[in-house]
Amino acid sequence: MAEQPLSTRAVLTGTGAYLPAQVLTNEDMAKRVDTSDEWIVERTGIKQRHFAAPHETAAFMGAEAGRQALEKAGLPPEALGAVIVATSTPDQSFPATAVRIQAMLGAKKAFGFDLSAACSGFVYGLSVADAMLRAGQVKSVLVIGTEVFSRILNFEDRTTCVLFGDGAGAVLLEAREVEKSGPGLLSTHLYADGSLGDILYVDGGTGQKDKPGHLVMHGREVFRHAVNLLAGAVNDALAENNLTAADIDLLVPHQANKRIIDGVGKKLGLPAERVVVTVHKHANTSAASVPLALAEAIQDGRAAPGKLLLLEALGGGLTWGSALLRL
Ligand code: COA
Repeated sequence: MAEQPLSTRAVLTGTGAYLPAQVLTNEDMAKRVDTSDEWIVERTGIKQRHFAAPHETAAFMGAEAGRQALEKAGLPPEALGAVIVATSTPDQSFPATAVRIQAMLGAKKAFGFDLSAACSGFVYGLSVADAMLRAGQVKSVLVIGTEVFSRILNFEDRTTCVLFGDGAGAVLLEAREVEKSGPGLLSTHLYADGSLGDILYVDGGTGQKDKPGHLVMHGREVFRHAVNLLAGAVNDALAENNLTAADIDLLVPHQANKRIIDGVGKKLGLPAERVVVTVHKHANTSAASVPLALAEAIQDGRAAPGKLLLLEALGGGLTWGSALLRL
């Protein structure tokens, strides 16, 4: 057989995950707001979430997940090229959480920056890392999604505070010369529609004096857009690679809501066993949700070497996107 030409790809070589020790069940939430386990499970599939302790900041959790990813890949921190952190809940406006993490890891040669794209942040981060690696700018990039949404939730608003949780997930991507059928990111697709900015946002922050800001969401509106936009992102990924849904071994969706996950899976005609679901265990962890789901699927063996994974996410902005990744 003729040898295939080699090209540079961003290959996943390690993953990591961190969830705070404190778990709040739906029953615990019902003690804080007028809600019930039945309502939350029926509408969202969520059964519990993790809430960070004071020391578990976005940087702390992201560094824990990042360290694991480096260890799994066997890459010493000093050899790391860059850290990209997707977060909407950074420790501070600056320095960037990525740079805090760079110091915590001892990744002395890495540069780093934060990326703000809400729940799509990790997929956006993969896309940026992919471009940097294929351009030859760096040889390795840690892409981390880390969030402490418990600190921006309005605990007077039962329609939002039961939906989110805290956590961090990380992947290490390394530039490798591979054959066409080999591992790596095959494509990423990113989208945004800022005209929908007011259906999911934070009503404060540094732009508004004396208002730290809480998450505000018009859930029905978000839901109305989510399945169609995500299906579009997924179909674009398949079309660009001349693939069909049947070629996908595992869908790794953003974990916001079981009904949205099922809706996309159904549109693709994927059986439940080919869709990774973690939302029942840690609710919506925003930019951390896709890397947490990915780390779990790799850990339990569902996402094994050679498998083709389709990642997707949608969040405030609106922003959304997809990534096709062969392990
Ligand atoms: N517990 C109990 N009742 C609640 C509740 C809660 N936590 N939150 C809302 N309700 C009530 C409402 O007050 C309303 O009562 P009413 O009919 O007496 O006015 C009723 O439940 C229905 O509210 P509604 O907002 O229409 O519910 P819904 O079926 O649209 O479900 C969401 C709400 C948020 C679960 C749903 O819209 C959703 O999942 N949206 C997508 C959100 C998402 O995933 N966003 C993240 C994207 S990154």
